[in-house]
Amino acid sequence: LEKVYSVAIDGPAGAGKSTVAKMIAERLNLAYVDTGAMYRAITLKALERGNFSKKGIIKIAEESTIEIINGRIYLDGRDVTEEIRKPSVDEKVSTVASIPQVRKRLVEIQRQMAKNSGVVMDGRDIGTTVLPNAKYKFYLTADIKIRAKRRYEEMLNKGINSDLEKVEQELAQRDKQDMERECSPLKVAEDAVIIDTSHKTPEEVVNEILDYIKRDENVL
Ligand code: CDP
Ligand code: CDP
Repeated sequence: LEKVYSVAIDGPAGAGKSTVAKMIAERLNLAYVDTGAMYRAITLKALERGNFSKKGIIKIAEESTIEIINGRIYLDGRDVTEEIRKPSVDEKVSTVASIPQVRKRLVEIQRQMAKNSGVVMDGRDIGTTVLPNAKYKFYLTADIKIRAKRRYEEMLNKGINSDLEKVEQELAQRDKQDMERECSPLKVAEDAVIIDTSHKTPEEVVNEILDYIKRDENVL
């Protein structure tokens, strides 16, 4: 049976979206699309060019090719999967993502990726704007302290000893910018299921989501 439905997963930074989305995609045999990585790639290119004018960033967004192949992200054919996670990108990405013309271009690419097959897509505006007709929508959230601790521990695992307080401030600042921007801000889609992941393991969240989907599909 062809599975053509899509799953939209939105929420603030560190809620566990990408961890859970990847696992869901695997279980349902759907492609996983990390839309945050796309905004990060454009931000990386602007940083490299040293051009942070609005006009310059729009030009970059319109001229760049972005592909996701086997879970790796390619910017103009170059693998930038690791580089887009650096702190300088964290710091600037929400500003880049607030520019309507940048969003227009990336949303086009995202819709194209979901056109011919079902996807699990995570981001901020997937259920509200990118795939408003997605069959399943989830909004993951968690306490800011817990989200900061998760991000802090992720960095520790990569050998980076950051400052927990600073990590929390950076997340809070990015959430604020993402929720307050004019163009498709982060918000709960009307028909999304809200899951607070604060005291749940990724496996528990995955099972909860799969339970919702299983009620509808007879394929699991
Ligand atoms: O993984 P993390 O939560 O830190 O961030 P991300 O999902 O990689 O997204 C990075 C940034 O891209 C977000 O803070 C948003 O500013 C922007 N973004 C967006 O505006 N719309 C999306 N659909 C996805 C990300
Ligand atoms: O994509 P998003 O920014 O929402 O979160 P993430 O990049 O998936 O990071 C979440 C981190 O918290 C990962 O290190 C996960 O192992 C951990 N975590 C989780 O994702 N879900 C839980 N329910 C508990 C912990």
